[in-house]
Amino acid sequence: MILAANLKTNLTRDKTNKYIKGLEKFLNESKSGQEVFVFPATSSLDYHEKSSVVVGAQNAYPVQNGAFTGEIGLEHLEEFGIKTILIGHSERRHILGETQESLVKKFAFYKSQGFKIIYCIGEPLTVREAGHEKMMEYISAQYEGIDTEYKDLIIAYEPVWAIGTGLTPTLEEIENIHKELKRKSPAPMLYGGSVKVTNAKEVLELQNVDGILVGSAALYLEHFCSMVSYADQIEKIAGEK
Ligand code: PGA
Repeated sequence: MILAANLKTNLTRDKTNKYIKGLEKFLNESKSGQEVFVFPATSSLDYHEKSSVVVGAQNAYPVQNGAFTGEIGLEHLEEFGIKTILIGHSERRHILGETQESLVKKFAFYKSQGFKIIYCIGEPLTVREAGHEKMMEYISAQYEGIDTEYKDLIIAYEPVWAIGTGLTPTLEEIENIHKELKRKSPAPMLYGGSVKVTNAKEVLELQNVDGILVGSAALYLEHFCSMVSYADQIEKIAGEK
C-alpha cells in the first residue's frame, strides 16, 4: 500500500531530516513492504541518499527556472534528486487559488519530466450537500485535462471538508466513492482527510483504497509509523488467506 505524509507548512529542515531518518529506521527495522512518501515544506527539501522513504515536493512551478517570484522550478527539485510531486491539493486550489487550468499545465510539465504525481481531488461541503450528482460533476471537472492513464499517477481523494477538521465520510461512503472514481482511472487511489491512528486501519482495510494521504496526524512520527504497521499487518493477513 501507499502511505504519504503531507507535512504542509510544518517542520524546519533540521526537524524534517530527523523525521525522515526516524522513518527510515522504522521502515528498515520493521522490514515494511509499504511504499512510503514524505512531502516536506519547500525550504525543508534536502538530498536523501538511497532512502527507503520517497521524498516529494508539495508544489513547484511548471518551469525549469525563470522569473516566478516565490516559486521553485524543476532544477531546484533536481538538485535534491526529487522526482515526485503533489498536484491539486485542496489547500492550493482553495487557499492559494490554483485553477484547474494551471493544474493541468503543472501536471503536463511534471509528467513530461517523468515525475510520479499524486494528484488530489475532492469536493467542498456545499457541493457534497447539493447531492450525489452535483458532487460527481464537481469531481469529474477535476479530472479534466489530466492524463488519467499516466503510468506514474496516484490519485488522492480528499473531501475538502474532511481536511484538518476531524470529520470524515463514513467508511461506506469512502468505499463507494472510491469504487465510482476508480472507473475514471486505473491509478491507485488514496484516501485523505482526517486520517488518524484511530481510523487508519479501517480505512486501509477498505476495498478500492490503496493507501492514505495524511496531514496533521503524520506530524507525529510514531503515529505515522503505526499506520505503516497497520498496512503491513493487513497485507500479512491477506497473504495468509
Ligand atoms: P489532514 O490533511 O490529515 O490534516 O486532514 C490531509 C491532507 O491535507 O492531505
